[in-house]
Amino acid sequence: MNTAKRKFSVIGCGRVGTCLAAFLFKKKYEPAGFFSRSRTSAQAAKAAAGCGMVFDTAAQCARAADIVFITTPDGFIEPVCEDLARQSALGPKTMVFHLSGAHSSEILAPAKQAGAVVGSIHPLQAFTPYEPGQENPFKGINISVEGDPDAVAQGKDIAAALGALAFAIPTESKILYHASAVVASNYLVSLVRFALTLLMETGLREDAAFEILSPLIQGTLSNIGSKGCTRALTGPVARGDHETVSRHLADIDQKLPQFSTLYRLLGSHTLDIAKDGGGLPEEAKQILSSLLK
Ligand SMILES: NC(=O)c1ccc[n+]([C@@H]2O[C@H](COP(=O)([O-])OP(=O)(O)OC[C@H]3O[C@@H](n4cnc5c(N)ncnc54)[C@H](OP(=O)(O)O)[C@@H]3O)[C@@H](O)[C@H]2O)c1
Repeated sequence: MNTAKRKFSVIGCGRVGTCLAAFLFKKKYEPAGFFSRSRTSAQAAKAAAGCGMVFDTAAQCARAADIVFITTPDGFIEPVCEDLARQSALGPKTMVFHLSGAHSSEILAPAKQAGAVVGSIHPLQAFTPYEPGQENPFKGINISVEGDPDAVAQGKDIAAALGALAFAIPTESKILYHASAVVASNYLVSLVRFALTLLMETGLREDAAFEILSPLIQGTLSNIGSKGCTRALTGPVARGDHETVSRHLADIDQKLPQFSTLYRLLGSHTLDIAKDGGGLPEEAKQILSSLLK
């Protein structure tokens, strides 16, 4: 891969685009152009980068660069890419990246058909609007990279230049990868909220309930990290204690029936993990399995 300084443009100067402009290591990557729906956003990104030009159109902006980052909201990536291809704004060596987690590089097909190299890089981070002097939000985070082989190599270099750690994923796995991130982040919130609701039923407020459960949650995460999921699993399902599970269900069915299905679904998934661990008596497995159906 060519490791010479490469010019980049940002189309869509919001949270992520402006942070790219500010933190992509200037000794390796040169900010060349900025375009956004509003000129004010493009000018703010230019100010964050400290150099480059603000352009009137996305096509002009793309022509100024070797690497084009389309950092619009997800729904605009494809139309912006189509526009760039239609305007012949992409040379055969231009690399086009988007930063969405929910889409693969396949939505950049118009750029590929126009001869460009395409890829997606997804930073596993929640970005807030850029503020001058802020810490680098890419530092130490994980970034997935997928796409054409040259784009994957370049994407890894971009991640390193941002101070992040890169890992490659196959294009066809991008949506499952994103589902995994959603489960790990958003559904963890749902799971904690479920646990809090059960505890709040005893008369506690949400903040007090969280304070009580927090060391248990943190300790469990730490055990998963040190022992893996199967060995980190404790509790009645892992012990085959179907009587306790049965009493949980009776109380939940009576007092919080809206959570009956969720408890059973999670319990059933937990039983699968307990089975993986081995050692559960056959009878306990069967009773738990029918209780949690
Ligand atoms: N935010 C996160 O935490 C996060 C994390 C990982 C990945 N991502 C991904 O990063 C990408 C950008 O997200 P974001 O959070 O930075 O979004 P954002 O803050 O809403 O910024 C998007 C920017 O694109 C500009 N824009 C909208 N339509 C445009 C168009 N047709 N042409 C040119 N510019 C246009 C907007 O315009 P103006 O300001 O000019 O009006 C806005 O500044 C998305 O693909 C998202 O999935 C976001």
